[in-house]
Amino acid sequence: MGSDISVELRQRFQNAQSVLVLTGAGVSAESGVPTFRGGGNSLVWKGMPFDVISSAQMVEQDLNAVWEWFDYRRALLSELRPNAGHHAIARWQEQFPEFMLVTQNIDGLHQSAGSKDVIEMHGSIWRARCISCHDRYQIPKSKPRPSSCQSCGDRLRPDVVLFGEMLPSGAFEQSAKAASRCDFCLVVGTSALVYPAAELPMIAKSAGAYLCEVNPELTPLSQFCDMVLTGRAGQVLPLL
Ligand code: OAD
Repeated sequence: MGSDISVELRQRFQNAQSVLVLTGAGVSAESGVPTFRGGGNSLVWKGMPFDVISSAQMVEQDLNAVWEWFDYRRALLSELRPNAGHHAIARWQEQFPEFMLVTQNIDGLHQSAGSKDVIEMHGSIWRARCISCHDRYQIPKSKPRPSSCQSCGDRLRPDVVLFGEMLPSGAFEQSAKAASRCDFCLVVGTSALVYPAAELPMIAKSAGAYLCEVNPELTPLSQFCDMVLTGRAGQVLPLL
């Protein structure tokens, strides 16, 4: 373990045919986005813990409060920029025969760095979804968000996975398929505690992929990795 990139790791990475990158909150930490676990407890909104205000139950009880919380978070995020880690990942998408980026983040920073076809397992803070017909709407950065569904007129909600909800249909299946096909799996900035995302690296490993983790801390996944790079995404990823 350590943050030195070994010759073997570099060769494995450069010769990979199919790469899967899984990211979590840690990849955005150096951009100023707080992580969910560890360090600070800023994730309380008007006295409500994060998992209460960000829950399926709260959408039913008080959708306005949920929007108020997400509007606040979007306003904070709109000031933030992708960091060197996001940019490194975006560059890699052209460098391998197959490349897939799966993120648990809803902040849109991978796309701001130029990543395309990102699988957003937990949705996006930059989209709204109709509570009835499920039509989706982009939320522009500089204009007010759409207030109701243009197709059916019903109310919109944030298009993110809240506590007590399932993943968007197909997101896990598509990611699991890529995991079982990749020969190099890089796991960046996730505590690897939240399922089913945390299953993906193990699917890759069982299918024979080389598994590498980038994180300043050890996680439950570390013991299964071929290489653990203990460091920050913005510092380590550009070195690969
Ligand atoms: P966590 O907050 O659980 O974990 C963040 C991880 O990033 C930790 O392991 C940190 O050690 C690591 N980290 C911190 N700074 C870093 C840096 N500069 N570079 C690399 N790593 C760094 O975030 P996630 O694993 O993404 O779900 O959390 C998973 C899910 O839990 C989230 O998507 C969210 C939450 O419940 C939903 O909201 C549905």
